[in-house]
Amino acid sequence: MGGVNLDRPPDENTQERALPATIVVGTQWGDEGKGKFTDLFAKEMHVVVRYQGGHNAGHTLVVDGETFALQLIPSGILYDHITPVIGNGVVVDPRVLLEEVDVLERKGIDCSRLRVSSNAHLILPYHQLLDRVTERYLGKNKLGTTKRGIGPAYADKAARVGLRVQDMYDPKIFRQKLEVVLKEKGQLLAKVYNQLPPTVDEICDLYLGELAPRVRPYVADTVDLVHEALEAGRHVLFEGAQATFLDLDHGTYPYVTSSNPVAGGACTGAGVGPRHIDRVVGVAKAYVTRVGSGPFPTELFDEAGDALVERGHEYGTNTGRRRRAGWFDAVMLRHAVRLNSLSEVAITKLDVLDAFDTVRVCVAYEAEGRRLDRFPDDQSLLHKVRPVYEELPGWRTDLTGATEPSDLPPEARDYLDFLEKQVGVPIRLVGVGPGREQFVQRTP
Ligand code: GDP
Ligand code: IMO
Ligand code: MG
Repeated sequence: MGGVNLDRPPDENTQERALPATIVVGTQWGDEGKGKFTDLFAKEMHVVVRYQGGHNAGHTLVVDGETFALQLIPSGILYDHITPVIGNGVVVDPRVLLEEVDVLERKGIDCSRLRVSSNAHLILPYHQLLDRVTERYLGKNKLGTTKRGIGPAYADKAARVGLRVQDMYDPKIFRQKLEVVLKEKGQLLAKVYNQLPPTVDEICDLYLGELAPRVRPYVADTVDLVHEALEAGRHVLFEGAQATFLDLDHGTYPYVTSSNPVAGGACTGAGVGPRHIDRVVGVAKAYVTRVGSGPFPTELFDEAGDALVERGHEYGTNTGRRRRAGWFDAVMLRHAVRLNSLSEVAITKLDVLDAFDTVRVCVAYEAEGRRLDRFPDDQSLLHKVRPVYEELPGWRTDLTGATEPSDLPPEARDYLDFLEKQVGVPIRLVGVGPGREQFVQRTP
């Protein structure tokens, strides 16, 4: 037995014309600025699809000084020409969805084009309750979840006891499934966690009576919608939530979310095959942040870390939690390039580094007397690694008004060139502020 035969040449007949589908994926531990770049790319798109996660996401868009914090609704919503789609891979709390629609409509955004997959799984009240009590139960080993019920909802999906959006439109089935699942959840909540479980009637009144009629206009066969768009040559953007290192399979397990944010997740979470995808943009901050528990090799506990948090306003979009912060980690990014087949990287928040005399980049790890150039798959080893840094001169210049590469000082350009070399794929876009117009496009 061996690995893949690398001597065998690729089959030329498989090189077909690529279809216009792009994925935007987080390459670190979330909050990289996926929302900002999704909104930016959406200008050229027709459909924007969220493919996984739920309202654990918080995607911020700043347009003409107005801030929009989105949780479930795709970041393309601000454009009239976009059909925003919540794909089958997302877990949907219909209350949150409707609240988000209300907030946007009050701001004058038309949400009537929104479509929600009938196959998406529902977050039910007991999911949120279970998320909260299991975190409490774990004590100091808690994961630091967003307590939105995401993990328990995906667990039920995998256990095949989940309820889907379409079940809300067959009341008999909805009640029947709920009775079965609540028998177990009720016992668990009452006997293990000492909690009063919600009743079947309470949930039916809320979901069937109140929420289902209001959600109905948005419900659709989104797989059909996406394929109709692709077949008509329309451009489709898949917007990832969370990020590569929070991925259930490839992240720093168990300190991960319960879905697959990696680019492959777009295929299952939206119902398209990998041959449709022709561009994968990995979004990375010019440094790293993480919210919640888990390993973080470049984490800073000094003034530099505080400066990143304060200058970068590193507090959760929805939860308000202070994010942990550290220097850019090229080892992680190289791994993210592989896991997502990144075709390019978009760097955000370069402006946050404006105040530093010098900036550091982690180029490798060191552990047990060895140098590691690759992200280790051994979790015990990952907890021990220490970063190997290269230090570069800072630029001490305000970048927030830059629009052209030539507006960037030489030190900032050198920093980007250095990152590009370390990561191995082109850096085409660079964010220099939260606003939609605050970016620099680099030429290849
Ligand atoms: P997401 O979850 O990946 O969409 O990112 P979040 O919206 O949670 O967090 C990113 C934060 O950085 C938001 O407050 C954005 O407005 C902000 N942001 C995005 N790009 C830039 C940038 O280039 N510079 C600065 N200063 N802020 C940015
Ligand atoms: P966006 O899309 C940052 C983190 C939580 C916790 C872990 C599991 O805005 O980048 P969960 O509630 O998903 O079961 O929590 O994942 N987490 C995020 N961190 N950005 C996010 O989303 C996140 N979504 C979940 O803090 O550590
Ligand atoms: Mg976020």
